[in-house]
Amino acid sequence: MAAHNVFPESRPPNPSARQACTTEVLLTPPKQRIVIVSNRLPIILDRCDGTGWGAKPAAGGLVAALRPILRESGGLWVGWPGAADVDDTDLAEVGEHLAANDNLRMRAVQLSSEEIDGFYQGFSNGIVWPLFHGMPKICSFSPDHWRAYSQVNRKFAEVLAREAAPDDFLWVHDYHLMLLGRELGRLRVPNRRGFFLHIPFPSLDLFLKLPWRQQIMDGLLSFDLIAFQTERDRQNFLQCANTLAERCLVAWDGKQVVRGRFLERAAAADKAGRDIQTETLPISIDYSKVAKDAASDAVQQRARQLRVDLQGRAMVLGVDRLDYTKGILHRLRAFQLALDRHAKLRGQMTLVQHLVPSREKISDYAKLRRNVEQLVSEINGQFTEPGWVPIHYMYHSLSWEDLLAHYRIASIALITPLKDGMNLVAKEYCAAQVDEDGVLILSEFAGAAAELKTGALLVNPHDIASTAESIYQAFIMPKDERLERMRRLRRTIRNHDVFDWAEAFLSAARHKASVALGVQESPRRATITVTG
Ligand code: F6P
Repeated sequence: MAAHNVFPESRPPNPSARQACTTEVLLTPPKQRIVIVSNRLPIILDRCDGTGWGAKPAAGGLVAALRPILRESGGLWVGWPGAADVDDTDLAEVGEHLAANDNLRMRAVQLSSEEIDGFYQGFSNGIVWPLFHGMPKICSFSPDHWRAYSQVNRKFAEVLAREAAPDDFLWVHDYHLMLLGRELGRLRVPNRRGFFLHIPFPSLDLFLKLPWRQQIMDGLLSFDLIAFQTERDRQNFLQCANTLAERCLVAWDGKQVVRGRFLERAAAADKAGRDIQTETLPISIDYSKVAKDAASDAVQQRARQLRVDLQGRAMVLGVDRLDYTKGILHRLRAFQLALDRHAKLRGQMTLVQHLVPSREKISDYAKLRRNVEQLVSEINGQFTEPGWVPIHYMYHSLSWEDLLAHYRIASIALITPLKDGMNLVAKEYCAAQVDEDGVLILSEFAGAAAELKTGALLVNPHDIASTAESIYQAFIMPKDERLERMRRLRRTIRNHDVFDWAEAFLSAARHKASVALGVQESPRRATITVTG
């Protein structure tokens, strides 16, 4: 099915897009137009009375950070509008409305329901998502899903071939689009392009399980810049690239492990000698907005109401998309054990667990929901006393104000994913702690742990007993220590917000490897020595 470009200000096809791809591309000039590419457009589509579609801009730090960049550079956002087979005329109207009201210019990549099944549910979320989060057992490696994934990546590339001017910088986001660089190359789209992976990159042993590992790696190596959330992700990637790339590549200072600091540049070169740069750039939040909104009257009022509802008890907060990577069952077990071991906690603290519906068509998600609800019910049956129910469980989406009110009054945030690219809930919780009196319990397997380890209580979510002890430790932590830790956390996040992150990515894209490279070729490997 051909892609439709139904949003306004569509350009005519780019005549130079089919010219030979040049590998010597110059630096991104400061005002270069940026084209953001992601699976979803930053909009929320709504059926209006069954007659057509309405849309509002999606909220969130990523959109907030990228909107000014797009506005300034005159760029646009390319992605799927979030529903199958949306009527073109409806989309055009929605696009015009958003461009006029929100200053966000977009192009839609339309997907059919079969493509959504194979590409989004099947490959992206049935294979890459579990594998990259370390759960290979639930991957179903279907060749049909692979075909759909390749086809949709090709479709995105076709839209970009038509829409991008030759010197636009293409900034591609996330695991849905790992083949896009390769498809752009096939269409001879000459643009310089960067990729940011929002989820973890797996270890070599995990990555090698993927039947299409070679194609995915080739796809990733078709970008000029590839950035990861953590240094571990970047190291995993370099190791996989070194193992799989045909005449590789991976780049270093002669050691097995590339020196690891934030923003340190490691260079790699493909057969044509093109530089491929890798970076560690942990994503963040709009700290000032979260802190400001958390202090607003509306939020304070909601927080007062919540305090009344809790009857003065301490709130332990869990907020997650319902996803098996979030460690929800492990967390519930840890809370159960904490209540069991420390009678002092009973009647004194309430776990408020919000689960936001997600990917409901995938059976593992539906199954997890049933298991969570069964366990919540078991724990409540075990400990409830007159006037106190230990777990308040809600399966719904929260409004921004409601979420902030929860952050504000939660004495403890219990964020215990089994694996997570970053986890922005952890950062939002801290930014919203305007009274600086809350404790963050954070999984060591969340990307955020690398930055927040000095203020958070880090836990291994698989170690239920020690997580239970951390809950108790957080509950009895002296006020001085709570304040001190939270101040440290907030300072860290304030000093590295989402605007810094976006700027760091774009300045890395502008960076012409200033290091001197010496290359020694061998049939399987060109070892590059970074000498400067
Ligand atoms: O963390 C990866 C991510 O794709 C986020 O970008 C997104 O908010 C979340 O997972 C849910 O994604 P979706 O509903 O598009 O599957």
